[in-house]
Amino acid sequence: MNEEERILQQEKLSDETEEEQTLRPQSLGQYIGQEAIKKNLSIYIHAAKLREEALDHVLLYGPPGLGKTTLAAVIANEMGVQLRTTSGPALEKSGDLAAVLSALEPGDVLFIDEIHRLPRAVEEVLYPAMEDFCLDIVIGKEESARSVRLDLPPFTLVGATTRAGSLSAPLRDRFGVTERLEFYTVAELTLIAKRTADLFGVTMDEEAAVHIACRSRGTPRITNRLVKRIRDFAQVIGNGHINPLIANRALEALQIDDRGLDGVDRRLLFGMIEQFQGGPVGLDTIAAAIGEESPTIEEMYEPYLMQIGFLQRTPRGRMVTRAAYEYFKLEAPTDD
Ligand code: ADE
Repeated sequence: MNEEERILQQEKLSDETEEEQTLRPQSLGQYIGQEAIKKNLSIYIHAAKLREEALDHVLLYGPPGLGKTTLAAVIANEMGVQLRTTSGPALEKSGDLAAVLSALEPGDVLFIDEIHRLPRAVEEVLYPAMEDFCLDIVIGKEESARSVRLDLPPFTLVGATTRAGSLSAPLRDRFGVTERLEFYTVAELTLIAKRTADLFGVTMDEEAAVHIACRSRGTPRITNRLVKRIRDFAQVIGNGHINPLIANRALEALQIDDRGLDGVDRRLLFGMIEQFQGGPVGLDTIAAAIGEESPTIEEMYEPYLMQIGFLQRTPRGRMVTRAAYEYFKLEAPTDD
């Protein structure tokens, strides 16, 4: 990978396969779920097009796998402009961002994934770029150093983060539009499962689609992954058609239970119950106890466990709920 490819993932969106790209909806009309966000975005996009302006900067936040990258691509498509993709960690120096910004064309969408991981010095280059479409660069060293201001074309920054709270206030304030992605409903995930099966050219019973949706933790990325794996089972041990029986056999083999919880979820909850009497326990303590990284637990596992009411964050630490004890068929400790 050369320097430019490292910074700018133009051809392929970050670390995804071609297969994933073919699954991506291209327009707001094809995008299933996130109804409130779609409604707002369609108005902002329409208005920007009427005024022949770039769309205002958009911040998308929420748990991983809910479609932030997909939405950025849809926005670019709907605006009829190019999408340029990079990420916070890929922009190591202010010069990296300056190079990306100066290559933009009028109206382009610049997508910065994991924007909370932008180094501070890089973030400072972004402020004037977002606010005034200009780039301040310093030429020369020490006493002879002077700042030169270069104009940039108007563009739209779409930032994505799993942790809006980690964004600095000045950066957060420069986004005209901020939207939080929600977990998807079973009905929406059922539609996504059917659409994905269709795109793969496999047939699937409605009931099998619902089974998959129920086990997707509210997350389309998981739905798509499950459809792919179940298709393998259908082709090898069945006749290629996905029926509920095949779906269940595959889900069992994948060790995904009827709430969609996987091994890490179960170790996390069970570890808290077994070793910490259900909590409260600090994030780092439980992470060390089960051998996972704290940010992984915080960003990838906890949001869904909280959504289904199995876990609570309290000022004294994490606690499992009565519902989690019931899930393990264990007696919850009585409050006294
Ligand atoms: N594939 C992944 N997410 C999707 C969504 N929200 N709508 C349609 N297809 C998808």
